[in-house]
Amino acid sequence: MMRRVWLSAVLGALFLAGAPARAQEKLEIFSWWAGDEGPALKALIDQYAAKYPTIEVVNSTVTGGSGVNARAVLKTRMLGGDPPDSFQVHAGQELIGTWVVANRMEDLTPLFKSEGWMAKYPPGLFRLLSAQGGIWSVPVNIHRSNVMWYVPANLDKWGVGPPSSWDQFLATCKTLQGKGLAHPLALGENWTYVHLWESVALGVLGPDGWAALWSGKMKFTDPMAVKVWDTFGKVLACANPDASGLSWQQAVDRMLKGEAAFNIMGDWAAGYMATTLKLAPGHGFGWTASPGTGGVFMMLSDSFGLPKGVKHRDAALKWLKLLGSREGQDTFNPLKGSIAARLDSDPLKYNAYLQSAAKDWKSDRVVGSLAHGAVAPESFGSQFGTVMEIYLAGMNAQAAASAAQAIADQVRLGK
Ligand code: GAL
Repeated sequence: MMRRVWLSAVLGALFLAGAPARAQEKLEIFSWWAGDEGPALKALIDQYAAKYPTIEVVNSTVTGGSGVNARAVLKTRMLGGDPPDSFQVHAGQELIGTWVVANRMEDLTPLFKSEGWMAKYPPGLFRLLSAQGGIWSVPVNIHRSNVMWYVPANLDKWGVGPPSSWDQFLATCKTLQGKGLAHPLALGENWTYVHLWESVALGVLGPDGWAALWSGKMKFTDPMAVKVWDTFGKVLACANPDASGLSWQQAVDRMLKGEAAFNIMGDWAAGYMATTLKLAPGHGFGWTASPGTGGVFMMLSDSFGLPKGVKHRDAALKWLKLLGSREGQDTFNPLKGSIAARLDSDPLKYNAYLQSAAKDWKSDRVVGSLAHGAVAPESFGSQFGTVMEIYLAGMNAQAAASAAQAIADQVRLGK
């Protein structure tokens, strides 16, 4: 008898010690950071799980660069009354022009105040996050859109340098083609065309011209804006014709393998090359501002918001607190290939590429990205893909320019 009691006590103790703490609560976060894009998010989730071991984190992801697929799924869920507890969204009109105007988000001003964040982020970022007297999401990073990537040893082998204007790029493209490299520029699927276009536009128009497009001061049918499409067409002629079948990572891979010399992509490419592929910045890959955009930092920011009526509000607030904190940002960003949105991050945690990006972020002229939701109203940005299709169908600069202006008029861009 005694023996049986003793045995069951021991077994009971073993069971309690070995059993995982029972999850009492859940947190569902929603993003497009899956697969190769996942390590930074995973590190942040691990940090959250260590802090709150009783909360089970459900990491819902929908693959597809730049959120092209995730946004559609999110829409279905939001409209179906099943919002995730917190979701990834680009800071700016991508959230404000959609779920904020639809009154589906919580104003996070009280959180920013209680966490002492009002002085911890740059004022320009607050302008992006704010509307209708509220602050609508917590920014976790700053990414740069206008970066050209290459492999230094390959450029040496071919005897070319990274071009500093689009004209120079076209000359370099010819030189490389003369040496047998048929497609010097590696390009990927559809949204990456828009990504490339914004670098071409910034290079052709300069930062003032770029700003004038969005304030409505320069029409898309202005000869300078039409020239952007002409240059874009010439740049496309240097790219692989099978682009639409490649993810952005596969386009980076082509450049790394020496099947192309250059790739224009946001600095999540640095995250992919340094974190996933373990390449050393400066040796395994090199970078420069995309042609003609030196001294200008085209920015975008990933952020998370809090929909109204979520199932696990308290757990979601804890998530937002972590990703807005210095420790959260300095865990996430070194892996992601982005710099912290906060002003007080620890530079020693960041690799050589990110330290150079942080320096440029402080000294460069900052402009917003179109492809990643920062500069244009959502009503315009979401229709720009159609303009791109019109261009690609006939390579007609004037037709694309007129289509863009028609949308600008329809959404009253800059008014
Ligand atoms: C951007 C996003 C980045 C990265 C990239 C590729 O829109 O801001 O964090 O995920 O898409 O998917």
